[in-house]
Amino acid sequence: MRAYDLIAKKRDGGTMTRAELEFLIGGYVDGSIPDYQMAAWMMAVYLRGMTPQEVAELTDVMAHSGDMVDLSPIQGIKVDKHSTGGVGDKTTLVITPIVAACGVKIAKMSGRGLGHTGGTVDKMESVPGTRTALEQEEFFAQVNKIGISVIGQSGHLAVADKKMYALRDVTATVGCIPLIASSIMSKKLAAGSDAILLDVTTGNGAFMKTVPESIELAQMMVDIGTRNGRHVAALITDMDTPLGHNIGNSLEVAESMEILKGRGPADLKEVCLQLAANMLVLAGKGTLEECRAMAQAVIDDGTAFATCKAMFAAQGGDVRVLDDYSLFAQPEASYDLLAEQEGYIWSNDTEKIGNASVLLGAGRITKEDTLDMAAGITLHKKAGDYVKPGDVLCTFYGKAEKFAAAEAMYRSGLVFSTEKPEEKPLVYARVTTDGVEMLA
Ligand code: URA
Repeated sequence: MRAYDLIAKKRDGGTMTRAELEFLIGGYVDGSIPDYQMAAWMMAVYLRGMTPQEVAELTDVMAHSGDMVDLSPIQGIKVDKHSTGGVGDKTTLVITPIVAACGVKIAKMSGRGLGHTGGTVDKMESVPGTRTALEQEEFFAQVNKIGISVIGQSGHLAVADKKMYALRDVTATVGCIPLIASSIMSKKLAAGSDAILLDVTTGNGAFMKTVPESIELAQMMVDIGTRNGRHVAALITDMDTPLGHNIGNSLEVAESMEILKGRGPADLKEVCLQLAANMLVLAGKGTLEECRAMAQAVIDDGTAFATCKAMFAAQGGDVRVLDDYSLFAQPEASYDLLAEQEGYIWSNDTEKIGNASVLLGAGRITKEDTLDMAAGITLHKKAGDYVKPGDVLCTFYGKAEKFAAAEAMYRSGLVFSTEKPEEKPLVYARVTTDGVEMLA
């Protein structure tokens, strides 16, 4: 077999066999196939697409290019979730304790912030002392004992994806649905859970900017998972506006705890309840209505918050901060950003809000950057709100010398109007093996 022939086959619209995919991916990982041939093949995929069977096999081959986590030492059904990313998207911190409190095991690997979007592992590390790198034995033992552990993703998962993603990034092949779907799902298959709920975000702060392309990605990922023996469903959720009010690591932990305590912003609560209910359905706990009621019940009786505390405590975290947020590391300074004109906020570009928060120190500009765990933004006015000059739009937290650049970034995404914009749904659709159910 020669890589040249496989590139030509895909260029001409052919379908790869499993053996050909194994040759290509295996050769790329061991270095016998160079970057330029892999790049040419991925561009051919970009232009020609893949059949459902072909993309499912590609994903499985990519998953097997690194460690396949065997979660069988953990009793019961294990459910994972994945978000395609967002700003203020702290749902993992809320829904995993809810689901665990309902008796479903969570043995989850999460990521760090990427670009303008935040990551669960960074947020968890804002709770002083929290360890997010556990040996497998300790990880399994914790899940068996308290039902939940969330840790950082092992560097040996889906090794092919890491190399392919870096190459896609510089060869204009990132925005290709079969390559995105196989990239995400290879890591999810390797992480070992029986069921996976996908939160496919859509809008100006998300990877996918429109609902139809988000649905297409979701359908492909559900199909890949199902063909590889997992229970998978997806929700298409809005990311035209950040979720909740807080953006930044400790700020987002605090807001998540508010939801677990039965308080907090209504939009975040609603999305979390829908995601948690769908995870419980995938675990076979009942109908959607029953599962939503279960999720609400563990918030109301305090067991979801207690489960979250138990997880942080088991991982070395100082859980006093979860009760008293003033014990978090505090920002050096804060700054209120004031409205300069009157009108409705027509739009407030979510990617720019995310980038402003990165500029404040909540995310990394270079790989080596250390995070300011207290940095971030609290939104007081969101898209659709009416403001007058002098009203506080948001508050920045962090080092004072960073406020000017963040302000310029934030203001560049604001558009005002005399008209009130139409309210966006929080959840657009649910995608399962049965098809697409439009919810808005
Ligand atoms: N996230 C991933 O893990 N892979 C992609 O290709 C896009 C988003």
